[in-house]
Amino acid sequence: MNRSIESFKSMSKSLVNFQTPSEKASYVRNMFDQISGRYDLMNRVMTGGQDVRWRRLAIEKAQLPVDGKLLDIACGTGDLAFSALPKQPELVAAADFSLNMVRIGKEKLRDHETIRFLGADGLAMPFRTGSFDAVVTGFSMRNVIDVGTFIAEMARVVRPGGKVVILEITPVNNRLFGPLFRFYFHKVVPFVGGLLSGNRDAYTYLPQSVDIFLTADQLKEKMAQTGLRDVHYRKLNFGTVALHWGTVG
Ligand SMILES: C[S@@+](CC[C@H](N)C(=O)[O-])C[C@H]1O[C@@H](n2cnc3c(N)ncnc32)[C@H](O)[C@@H]1O
Repeated sequence: MNRSIESFKSMSKSLVNFQTPSEKASYVRNMFDQISGRYDLMNRVMTGGQDVRWRRLAIEKAQLPVDGKLLDIACGTGDLAFSALPKQPELVAAADFSLNMVRIGKEKLRDHETIRFLGADGLAMPFRTGSFDAVVTGFSMRNVIDVGTFIAEMARVVRPGGKVVILEITPVNNRLFGPLFRFYFHKVVPFVGGLLSGNRDAYTYLPQSVDIFLTADQLKEKMAQTGLRDVHYRKLNFGTVALHWGTVG
């Protein structure tokens, strides 16, 4: 681990050392339940609105057919699902284990919009094998307790030939830009996140969870190990965000 990550970590308490996987799952669910009301606002502020563009790109990679069926898993307040509506899919399902996030998502639906929001665990999805043309997930992978099982479940619920798309923040190793980004991420984001959401810990956990997450190459490898083919990724936002996609079957 490089020295600047070490020093940033030593400046704030560690929020990513869990005793058991279920402790992490409860922590994550409670945290998102608590920040759900300010989650969208904080996303727009933290990314300068760029996340809207990244979500559109993720939906493009899902290559939904006309009248297609899409699942947004670990959907939070459903912003990926909402980004898919202009494609006029037959079905958009959006599922998350934080019921407060799901409730906020439902409240955002306007009269003419249809997304089926539901509470569900991405590690044991309540969907039949091959039910969807594509599955997307945004900024969830760092939060799940078993990345391999989560990706395998994503692949299971998609028909052969369909797409699995993952949008996630990725560890930065750029020697020039890295320290600047880490300062922003480890210092500014927790401060602003604390002010806007009232939960500084949630936005302290965020950069720490990225530091210990898989690199883009490692995530690509994980997707390939799960049996996905033609796995690719593209980095966005000066290499701070990675968009991965692969094909089932
Ligand atoms: C950072 S939020 C991302 C929300 C949304 N996907 C987005 O793009 O803004 C991470 C979400 O993952 C959800 N999550 C984490 N682990 C999960 C799991 N095992 N099953 C379902 N949802 C999960 C959390 O509840 C949270 O809403």
